[in-house]
Amino acid sequence: MNKGYLITFEGGEGCGKSTQIKLLSQFLKEYNFDYILSREPGGATFGEALRKILLDNKSDIDAKTEFLLMSSGRVDHVEKVVKPALERGQIVVLDRFYDSSYAYQGYAGGLDLKDIKYITDFAAGGCKPDLTFLLDISYEDGFDRKARDENLRNLDRFENKDKEFHDKVRLGYLEMAKKEPERFVVIDATKSPEEINKKIVKEFLKRYVQLGKKNESTEKSVDL
Ligand code: TYD
Repeated sequence: MNKGYLITFEGGEGCGKSTQIKLLSQFLKEYNFDYILSREPGGATFGEALRKILLDNKSDIDAKTEFLLMSSGRVDHVEKVVKPALERGQIVVLDRFYDSSYAYQGYAGGLDLKDIKYITDFAAGGCKPDLTFLLDISYEDGFDRKARDENLRNLDRFENKDKEFHDKVRLGYLEMAKKEPERFVVIDATKSPEEINKKIVKEFLKRYVQLGKKNESTEKSVDL
């Protein structure tokens, strides 16, 4: 068992992950939890270099190449950042982890899920999220939100894929969540950021306490 606690955030484009990660990290900071934030693709120097290639619209690469690049970045990230933090007993909050490979390269990209599992198990080296928040959003709602928040002319290579692709990503995530209901918390990402944050903090505290882990916020009742 991890000494630390691994929380991952997953979801389609425009699901509001960044906002929710920021809100959760404000909570963790306020209550003196020992935590780090990281992301995939990226998280360590090699992975961040790969991220640039992977998201670049000029990169002409297929799902298999994408997956192998994501996986090699994952090895570096897990070994240099995630595992050491978990071994120190920290909470690790990740903006995407291997579920993204299943959703994007597997369910949507058409790679065999057995191949994804084989290589992912190898790359993640036994690191498994304790808790995964899936911010569920439709293609239309996700891109509406993106259009409000940023310039749609700057979409990256994944954001530029068509509705059919993004619909498959969404269904893939929901199928994974159904298969592992104890790990996944599925959240309607169209709700207000405050409402979503409350649910996330509540679920996190409930599970954290169930594991017998403690912190000042679990000792007094946090006002949610
Ligand atoms: P994203 O996390 O959406 O970052 P931002 O919103 O800050 O641009 O971008 C990362 C993209 O990488 C996202 O479209 C999903 C994709 N991705 C995969 O296809 N497979 C993976 O294994 C991972 C980790 C990400």
